[in-house]
Amino acid sequence: LQYDGNTYEIPVLEGSEGEKALDISKLRATSGLITLDVGFKNTGSTTSNVTFLDGEKGILRHRGYSIEDLAEKSSFLEVAYLLIYGELPDAQTFENWSSRIMKHSLVHEDIRKIFDGFPSTAHPMGVLSSLVTSLTAFHPESIDPNRDSAAIDLTIVRLLAKLPTLAAWSFKNSQGLPLEYPNAKNDYVSNFMQMMFKNKHMDYDVDPVIMDAMNKLLILHADHEQNCSAATVRVVGSSLSSLYVAVSAGINALWGSLHGGANQAVIEMLETIQADGGNIDKFIAKAKDKNDPFRLMGFGHRVYKNFDPRSRIIKKAADDILDRLGVNDPLLDIAKKLEDIALTDPYFVEKKLYPNVDFYSGIIYKALGFPTEMFTVLFALGRLPGWIAQWKESREMVQPISRPRQVYTGETHRAYPED
Ligand code: MLT
Repeated sequence: LQYDGNTYEIPVLEGSEGEKALDISKLRATSGLITLDVGFKNTGSTTSNVTFLDGEKGILRHRGYSIEDLAEKSSFLEVAYLLIYGELPDAQTFENWSSRIMKHSLVHEDIRKIFDGFPSTAHPMGVLSSLVTSLTAFHPESIDPNRDSAAIDLTIVRLLAKLPTLAAWSFKNSQGLPLEYPNAKNDYVSNFMQMMFKNKHMDYDVDPVIMDAMNKLLILHADHEQNCSAATVRVVGSSLSSLYVAVSAGINALWGSLHGGANQAVIEMLETIQADGGNIDKFIAKAKDKNDPFRLMGFGHRVYKNFDPRSRIIKKAADDILDRLGVNDPLLDIAKKLEDIALTDPYFVEKKLYPNVDFYSGIIYKALGFPTEMFTVLFALGRLPGWIAQWKESREMVQPISRPRQVYTGETHRAYPED
């Protein structure tokens, strides 16, 4: 940056969220102006054809199809195809594609050796991201800068095929349980459920209510435009690293509590309310307390200023699954009461604090027998098609390497101290 003479004065304006914003009209960069937008909250980092999100109206569409239609009428793998290739597959295309995926669901036996090195205390997300990175070593064509479209497509199919296996293994590791291998005769989601719960619970993998709800849950998490993990996948992919490495970076971004950890925080909040006797009015009053506010988790969204369209669908899935399992979870009652209050109490209505997608998903996962540290892994499994679509799109656009500039605010010239 060049400033007038040697003075180093940065005009600072107070941003609407209390953040500092530079008065860029007074700054001149050597190669154009720089906008200080830490976290890219207001700067479009790319154009994209994958997902449309209107936070004012509460609209979410993938490739032009509404999330409501997709959740109601498609399977998760069909939505994955739509996100990645831009069209809903016809029956024959889908049959060919899904059987190709299922054939690649086994992982190299040497990955098992890496897996065996993890302590059972390792967080499943750490195990998952490490194993996804390791796929580059076993399939080196994925990192070849001259890879052709067939090699790229094989990498995509392999990653989709192997993630459920690695995700289920990361669960088994955390529980100290023996591993299950994939069965290529199963469909995608039932295969995952079988590797997770075989011999443990009722046959989730063949129960139509459970499988329908699981497909919906994964569809609802499939993509959400340029959030932290999707942007990470694009940035890492922009250096021409392999898809495996870029997605592994996305998994790590998702691991953070501000991104993928929200549904775990909701469960912990509901448990706190329950342990305190379940007096919801007390916690609502505390949430409004300006001096020491109780944070209501699972409400509001950085982008949505309206109902998160995913939360309506997920609420219904929660009812269906708990009903099917015959589970009477008091946390669901607390959640529903909280939601009723949030939708009617002027304090919450004015602040547009509607329940978001994370509000009910944890209750479903808990009822199915997933421990809380697996919640982010399930998010990653659902988000994988979105990450792949974002990566593929950015490569097809030949998006340049991401190289953000900075606004330097440190010392200018300093005399080196004399001895
Ligand atoms: C998501 O689904 O990725 C979350 O809602 C986070 C976000 O969109 O920022």
